[in-house]
Amino acid sequence: MHTILVTGGAGYIGSHTCVELLEAGYDVVVVDNLCNSSEESLKRVEKITGKQVKFYKADIADKTEMKKIFEENDIFGVIHFAGLKAVGESVQKPLEYYQNNISGTLNMCEVMREQGVKNIIFSSSATVYGDPEMVPITEACPKGQCTNPYGWTKSMLEQMLTDIQKADEEWNVILLRYFNPIGAHKSGLMGEDPNGIPNNLMPYVMKVAIGELPHVNVFGDDYPTPDGTGVRDYIHVVDLAVGHVKAIQKIEENPGVKVYNLGTGNGYSVLDIIKNVSKAVGKEIPYVIAERRAGDIAECYADAALAKEELGWEAENGIKEMCEDSWNWQKNNPKGYR
Ligand code: NAD
Ligand code: WQD
Repeated sequence: MHTILVTGGAGYIGSHTCVELLEAGYDVVVVDNLCNSSEESLKRVEKITGKQVKFYKADIADKTEMKKIFEENDIFGVIHFAGLKAVGESVQKPLEYYQNNISGTLNMCEVMREQGVKNIIFSSSATVYGDPEMVPITEACPKGQCTNPYGWTKSMLEQMLTDIQKADEEWNVILLRYFNPIGAHKSGLMGEDPNGIPNNLMPYVMKVAIGELPHVNVFGDDYPTPDGTGVRDYIHVVDLAVGHVKAIQKIEENPGVKVYNLGTGNGYSVLDIIKNVSKAVGKEIPYVIAERRAGDIAECYADAALAKEELGWEAENGIKEMCEDSWNWQKNNPKGYR
């Protein structure tokens, strides 16, 4: 079975993907600089699977280190999660975001080319669609104006990787546009562990659920949606992880460039999430209606048909499982991996 290099493999989505890769029989090498994660997540991966992960603590922009990784391992392809991802921070620190996400990826691609490894699966985001003209969003919908530097790094990297493949057909590039990943591994051993006060809805709701924060601020209740709050396509992180295993299987067919939405196709509102978490926790999650958050859109959910047709992948977990699994992780690990 092939060996896969997982960049950012200690992070939230990366660690869950390591589990699914190992369970599907792949060997896994991880490179991560741990700027937003800890090595403990990889220990949990090993505990769940009973298999080993070869870990390099390094920055993907460090060509010497990356060269060493490719020389020491027979890598078939790269699943590329490594990147900075906080939307608000990217507005404050655009230079850091462009430097880390874009230069990092370009440096890594140069090493990949030198080493003759030309298969890459890239973590993109529904954010590249901007404010969509219609929902559900298909892959044929045009990319839009991003509202922050983080989003632009995803949009630009999609273009760069596409151009690299166009110039050299030995490359295979799969761009996966994730919708809103939430949830955690069923074991309760792995989940999302953000630093500081979370920006995203589910980790914020979790902090309220364990009593670290007093209430959820619901950003706007006057959107043109059924209950007035923002609607998103929340997807269970384990379903997302399985999508990457399917993408590796696809890349084995030398497909050139492919783009897939990874979402469930269902939209849920902020209040739907609060209601379902309340049920999972067994007590009401307090919330207050607050101002709209700058840059937010009313609704965003995927047309997930293409991934089903071409990857044979579809999400299996619904909103109930997502909320239960997030809570199971949070209550068993109130301080995350610390
Ligand atoms: P995460 O922060 O948990 O994981 C990213 C990992 O990359 C971290 O472990 C971090 O330490 C590492 N990293 C960052 N820069 C690095 C560098 N230069 N060299 C080596 N390691 C580096 O984030 P996540 O939620 O698991 O997201 C994974 C990927 O998916 C990211 O590229 C993110 O932009 C993308 N994505 C995430 C979401 C989401 O909502 N979580 C949605 C769409 C796309
Ligand atoms: C979801 C909904 C908020 C927090 C972001 C990135 C996107 C992608 C996923 C990486 C919205 C509302 C939130 C809170 C709230 N990441 N909300 N109170 O904004 O859809 O997407 O993460 O690629 O690029 O932009 O996710 O979880 O922040 O918000 O009411 O405290 O919850 O307004 O409607 P978003 P989110």
